Amino acid sequence: MELKDVAVKYGDFLALKNINLHVEAGEGLVLLGPSGSGKSTLLRAVAGLTPVASGRVYIGGNDVTYLPPDRRKISMLFQDLALFPHLNVFENVAFGLRLRHLPDEEVRKRVVWALELVRLDPAQFMSRGCTSSPAASNRGLPSPGRWWWSRRSSSSTSPLAT
Ligand SMILES: Nc1ncnc2c1ncn2[C@@H]1O[C@H](COP(=O)(O)OP(=O)(O)OP(=O)(O)O)[C@@H](O)[C@H]1O
Ligand SMILES: [Mg+2]
Repeated sequence: MELKDVAVKYGDFLALKNINLHVEAGEGLVLLGPSGSGKSTLLRAVAGLTPVASGRVYIGGNDVTYLPPDRRKISMLFQDLALFPHLNVFENVAFGLRLRHLPDEEVRKRVVWALELVRLDPAQFMSRGCTSSPAASNRGLPSPGRWWWSRRSSSSTSPLAT
């Protein structure tokens, strides 16, 4: 993933300027900064949820600067995990795949794979401590390998948190 001279504006307010960043495949990146310094804005710009005012965004070597979020093959896990409390772990993780009308067997295979990865019981319902993992699995399933984590999601209770 690469950012070249990225700037983001909210109206007249310049939230990010001259952002240059190169992250290799498999490399982990942690953004640290005070509240309001633009961490979420940067992640949203990479995901395509906030448009850039100038500069370029590359993912996997492709220029995605003007691609909509659903065509960037990237997932963003928000601070608000947006899980369904009335659904069990399996159904929460399966949700995005069902929206994409994947065959039941494919959904089952992918969900089982993701839940084994984070060692979660598919039949469980959500407790606060275990919510990060299904949310991550859910967001990660459509495009494994490229996950953005926001701060509160990577709580120490998550088996994926490192
Ligand atoms: N939708 C918006 N409209 C106007 N200004 C915004 C908007 N979103 C963020 N900002 C401003 O942009 C700047 C960067 O905000 P951002 O949310 O990216 O910071 P952050 O580093 O993620 O902060 P936090 O640690 O509190 O999550 C802040 O000054 C914020 O007030
Ligand atoms: Mg933030």
